[in-house]
Amino acid sequence: MKKVLWALALVAGMTGCGKKEDGGSTAQASSAVTAEAKSLFDTRCASCHGTGGKGDGAAAAALNPKPRDYTDAAWQASVTDEQIAKTIVEGGAAVGKSPLMPPAPDLKDKPDQVKGLVALIRSYKK
Ligand code: HEC
Repeated sequence: MKKVLWALALVAGMTGCGKKEDGGSTAQASSAVTAEAKSLFDTRCASCHGTGGKGDGAAAAALNPKPRDYTDAAWQASVTDEQIAKTIVEGGAAVGKSPLMPPAPDLKDKPDQVKGLVALIRSYKK
């Protein structure tokens, strides 16, 4: 855990130095797991999805259906990045999943943050 925090601090420090490119989201940017995405996930998603993306967050016990395990390679292969992004922004109900998966309408105008979350979810694959 200490190591992870250290790595995150390092990444945050590095991105903090560079100029932030606005709007210039490239394909490369979409595959980078940023510290920002990780902290967003930890604050807003991990309570249900678990800090490791396994669907074992503290609130998950009360959920039915439960959030899925993102380390599951079969699930990873079954969804597109677009589907994941849509679920994040519009919520479970919009894609025929559980309405307990809350929408994040504030991320609608922040495609980079959504991309970061998608990349993070992809990175959990075993
Ligand atoms: C209140 C608990 C809760 C929170 C908070 C939450 N989720 Fe979910 N999420 C769920 C549940 C429950 C499901 C499963 C829905 C289903 O399978 O019907 C889900 C499903 C998903 C899916 C779809 C997986 C699939 O089966 O295709 C994605 C992607 C996702 N969540 C991402 C996120 C992200 C990113 C955040 C934070 C911005 C977040 N969730 C916050 C409960 C939550």
